[in-house]
Amino acid sequence: MLRVGVLVSGGGTNLQAIIDAIADKKITNAEIVTVVASNPKAYAIERAKKHNIPAIVISRKAFNSIEEHDAAVCDHMQNMDVDLIVMAGYLSIVGEQLISKFKNRIINIHPSLIPSFCGPGFYGLKVHEAALERGVKVTGATVHIVNEICDGGPILLQKAVEVERGDTPEILQRRVMEQAEWKILPEAINMIANKQEVI
Ligand code: GRF
Repeated sequence: MLRVGVLVSGGGTNLQAIIDAIADKKITNAEIVTVVASNPKAYAIERAKKHNIPAIVISRKAFNSIEEHDAAVCDHMQNMDVDLIVMAGYLSIVGEQLISKFKNRIINIHPSLIPSFCGPGFYGLKVHEAALERGVKVTGATVHIVNEICDGGPILLQKAVEVERGDTPEILQRRVMEQAEWKILPEAINMIANKQEVI
């Protein structure tokens, strides 16, 4: 059974997609053993509680440095005997210690087709604002392994989404979440849990 730890910061719709996929058996041989929120107000915490998944807050503000915060997250994931860390709308920095202790065992969902619209500063709505500004006709989402390069790790899955006339960043974000993120993140976890994807 793959023990999954999910890192969240906001609404938690990607967390919900994982929870639902496990319930619907679209993900097998995996369980979420902990949810770690960087923000005490993250609605993702409520989603975890509704499904009796232990959730804690490890906020950057509670620590004197990025390194100390990173060590706290790392210690927690190791204490919970996590096999795979999933960043699902997580906005805090994942530091060297976590990346080295969980080498090739951290995945992230990014709301574009990497290498477009990714890297430092590209998160949340900003990604979709940049896509609309550039005028791309197709965007999408990417699941990738997290390494020391921001959004630079090996790509596991991608799914394309059409940009439609009149799209606002909010409308496009919602379509990318519905048509891509909420599908490929659970699919990637299922592949890893069932050893169809050796990472
Ligand atoms: C989404 O835009 C997602 O692509 C990005 O974070 C945002 C919020 O995700 N990774 P969630 O609803 O908190 O899962």
